[in-house]
Amino acid sequence: MAPKIIARNVGKVYETRRGQVEALVDFSLEVEEGEFVCIVGPSGCGKSTFLRILAGLEPLTSGEYAIAPGDDPNKPLNNVVFQEYAIFPWKTVLENVAFGLQMRSVSKRERTAIAMDWLERVGLRKFADHYPGQISGGMKQRVSIARALANDPEVLLMDEPLGALDAQTRTVMQEELMRIWEETRKTVVYITHSIEESVFLGDRVVLMTAHPGTIKEIFPVDLPRPRSHKTTATPAYAELTYAIWQSLQGEVMRAMQEQQA
Ligand SMILES: Nc1ncnc2c1ncn2[C@@H]1O[C@H](COP(=O)(O)OP(=O)(O)OP(=O)(O)O)[C@@H](O)[C@H]1O
Ligand SMILES: [Mg+2]
Repeated sequence: MAPKIIARNVGKVYETRRGQVEALVDFSLEVEEGEFVCIVGPSGCGKSTFLRILAGLEPLTSGEYAIAPGDDPNKPLNNVVFQEYAIFPWKTVLENVAFGLQMRSVSKRERTAIAMDWLERVGLRKFADHYPGQISGGMKQRVSIARALANDPEVLLMDEPLGALDAQTRTVMQEELMRIWEETRKTVVYITHSIEESVFLGDRVVLMTAHPGTIKEIFPVDLPRPRSHKTTATPAYAELTYAIWQSLQGEVMRAMQEQQA
């Protein structure tokens, strides 16, 4: 099968007032259609930079990347769920989920139907008329995931989408995300700081080196699907999680020392 996303020797240098910051060097990755790839790495290693390049929000300095187009050229190529909740406080939950469709001039009737369908799937149908200020953090996160999926993007680029949630809500949302992904089988690139989360969700875990970021190691996750949190009680899960931590540990130390220097 042809890869959906190809990145070859991607490099990124930011020009700042205090000089150049080398964020990514020689970063190469291929993601298969329908694959769920997680990226982990120490803070500042260039994870968000890579995702922003894929999303077309940031120009690269060297190398190349491509996202294979789908059958429908009018479809938006991708969609990012950012670290923060990317939802508008002055719009209702429904309007937020329908926003991308509205931007693409989908009729009000159709976009309302699609948005309600996604609200149903993320368990927020009853909150359609609420404003973001009236719902919890976990619910806001679900709104932002529903909005991304309502656009039916070619690939889903997610930057720590559950990062702001408390541990229990996060655990629930991981399972919900898995359930939705099993239904849609989108190609996903998912950034997380949590090794546990990356192993639970991913088909592969890409481990990055400390700044400047490149790929250190790629771990295939051969845990059976569909997964539930029962998966996390298996020896295979524990062993893989530990192996990734062993490889990441040195990079985290290096990143911390560099930040103190
Ligand atoms: N717009 C920018 N201008 C200058 N430097 C930047 C910019 N964005 C990021 N950087 C630098 O590039 C490097 C990579 O940043 P990036 O945000 O991609 O890391 P990250 O892996 O997502 O970190 P975190 O895990 O903390 O979110 C860092 O050194 C950061 O300071
Ligand atoms: Mg980041």
